[in-house]
Amino acid sequence: MNEKKHSNGIKRREFMQTGALFAATAIFLPLSGYQILAAQDSSKTISTMPTATLNNGLSMPMIGLGTHSLKGDICVRSVAEAISVGYRLIDTATVYGNEEFVGEGIKLSGIPRDELFVTSKLWVSDSGYETTKQAFETSLTKLGLEYLDLYLIHRPRGDVKGTWKAMEDLYKEGRIKAIGLSNFEPDQLDELLTYSTVKPTVNQIESHVYFQQHKAHDYLKQKQVQMEAWSPFAAGRNGMFTNPILARIGKKYNKSNAQVCLRWHYQRDVVTIPRSSQKAHMVENLDIFDFELNEADMQTIATLDLNRTQFPEWS
Ligand SMILES: NC(=O)c1ccc[n+]([C@@H]2O[C@H](COP(=O)([O-])OP(=O)(O)OC[C@H]3O[C@@H](n4cnc5c(N)ncnc54)[C@H](OP(=O)(O)O)[C@@H]3O)[C@@H](O)[C@H]2O)c1
Repeated sequence: MNEKKHSNGIKRREFMQTGALFAATAIFLPLSGYQILAAQDSSKTISTMPTATLNNGLSMPMIGLGTHSLKGDICVRSVAEAISVGYRLIDTATVYGNEEFVGEGIKLSGIPRDELFVTSKLWVSDSGYETTKQAFETSLTKLGLEYLDLYLIHRPRGDVKGTWKAMEDLYKEGRIKAIGLSNFEPDQLDELLTYSTVKPTVNQIESHVYFQQHKAHDYLKQKQVQMEAWSPFAAGRNGMFTNPILARIGKKYNKSNAQVCLRWHYQRDVVTIPRSSQKAHMVENLDIFDFELNEADMQTIATLDLNRTQFPEWS
């Protein structure tokens, strides 16, 4: 199943070598007062991660760790633990106020920088050419990194044109490996395409079984812009983790509601960034590559769509 090649160019290939190393050895990393057991249960670590190939050729892991609302020691520990069990994509943003903690967790993990895929996002108040460049440097300093793998415009507000020009320049200088968008509607993306010289690689938007975003999903596929789902569990709203329809499907495969949700995203070729501060959940959320939802399951899940945001307070 992991060898499957999808029509939009998503490839299944070995993304990381070090996962196998973790699987073989239990490593204690006593740094900064933390002690992380890097691989407690070798059978539950992941040594390969399917990737999407972005429209500029960059490989992006299909599952990563979201870090919204993770702060301080919990954030540091969560990031380091996620990396220790096989995560390589870490998603943060300036507005989360946790880039320092994410950076500390990355350092603590001891994983070589080039095996990680780190995303951050430019917040609305920093929009504009010069301000974007400054905000980017601040993010890098806080993260303790030399470059970002992916930098996104967090919301389509403010001086989007000036922001995108700055991102294009940073990309052309090699400071960012890919640039993209978040929360852009199809018409807003169309407008950006009228003046951009670098095509966005990713659009990170709200998507989960209650807000399936069929129109955006089709549109992004057609434009060869990778769809990435934020809040892939709707942050647990509307009873997602106890939904009886998801539970019935999961029972057939001995999988949880969370795993059914993530598998559903994966089979739609959507990158996900589930957040967790619990190691058991992190491991569970990677354990979705040994089963496949059938067409009837996919159609049943399609009936859960409410076709509206579960976060009206953010609209
Ligand atoms: N671009 C944007 O505008 C935007 C907006 C929102 C979010 N995001 C990004 O998307 C990421 C994910 O979204 P989110 O943080 O809102 O929510 P989410 O990933 O949909 O859900 C997170 C919640 O699910 C729980 N959980 C995780 N795995 C579980 C499992 N296997 N079983 C049961 N519960 C589980 C977590 O609790 P535990 O900690 O107890 O596991 C947490 O309460 C964010 O962290 C952020 O990086 C981006």
